[in-house]
Amino acid sequence: MVAKALLSPSFIGLAVSVAFVALVLRFPVKSPVQARLWTSEELSMYNGTDNGLPILLGILGSVFDVTKGKSHYGPGGGYHHFAGRDASRAFVSGNFSGDGLTDSLHGLSGTEMKSVVDWRDFYFRSYTFVGHLVGRYYDNQGRPTKFLKGVEAKAARAAQLLEKQKKEEAKLPSCNSRWSQQEGGEVWCDVGYPRLVQRPQEIALTGKMSMRCACFKEEELSQPGLEVYKGCDYLSQVCRV
Ligand code: HEM
Ligand SMILES: *[C@@H]1O[C@H](CO)[C@@H](O)[C@H](O)[C@H]1NC(C)=O
Ligand SMILES: *[C@@H]1O[C@H](CO)[C@@H](O)[C@H](O)[C@H]1NC(C)=O
Repeated sequence: MVAKALLSPSFIGLAVSVAFVALVLRFPVKSPVQARLWTSEELSMYNGTDNGLPILLGILGSVFDVTKGKSHYGPGGGYHHFAGRDASRAFVSGNFSGDGLTDSLHGLSGTEMKSVVDWRDFYFRSYTFVGHLVGRYYDNQGRPTKFLKGVEAKAARAAQLLEKQKKEEAKLPSCNSRWSQQEGGEVWCDVGYPRLVQRPQEIALTGKMSMRCACFKEEELSQPGLEVYKGCDYLSQVCRV
């Protein structure tokens, strides 16, 4: 009775379609490593030098199995220094040597912290999460520390400010610009006059001043904070830079 049911056309059809769907969707390849808490000493064993072990990488205290990216993270790979440790800071500093390989983001700007959080998102999307690293960002119970909360809050604030900056800049048309070896740089407006303006959110975002060129109509030129390009006439539509 059972054998007959298993051989029935509808069962075989079902089995074939299940096998087909499994083949097409490919069940995600799971890391051989269970998600758990790691110490930095344990993590350092997974730096890719031992072929029998997976390669692990920490970022903001989250640990990922990056074995499938061996060409980047294995010995001789351009990003081997990220393997077996949490070098969160190097994701923005690009400094892969000595003290550059630290998990501390102390003193970095909001946009830089957002950039590290974006990298962590990249690893969540691209690789398998295998747990948390006990230390700066997670305590020995696996709870997020005040440092992680601080970084995430600063990154979220930067994301908000960047959004606001984008909207504000969209209201003011930017100048056109071109650059050539012979002519040097030039900015110009199709409508209105080029003026240098301070990006209002920039100090909060990066800690630095940043100017951009925007176009203003004649009746707007008396607004505060507009700077005429050096050597450019008040009502010139083109300025050398
Ligand atoms: C702060 C500096 C930099 C950091 C932190 C960084 C980080 C990374 C990381 C982690 C990967 C591997 C992503 C993965 O797992 O698939 C990667 C890939 C890559 N990076 Fe960078 N990178 C930096 C600068 C650069 C620069 C300056 C270049 C080019 C001039 C570059 C070119 C590439 C290329 C081409 C890949 C892809 C390689 C491939 O898929 O075969 N990177 N980068
Ligand atoms: C890399 O991992 C191996 C074992 O897998 C270990 O013996 C070695 O000390 C590690 N290197 C560093 C720099 O931690
Ligand atoms: C990387 O960081 C170390 C230690 O902070 C410093 O001595 C070195 O000059 C830095 N290298 C680069 C390329 O910035």
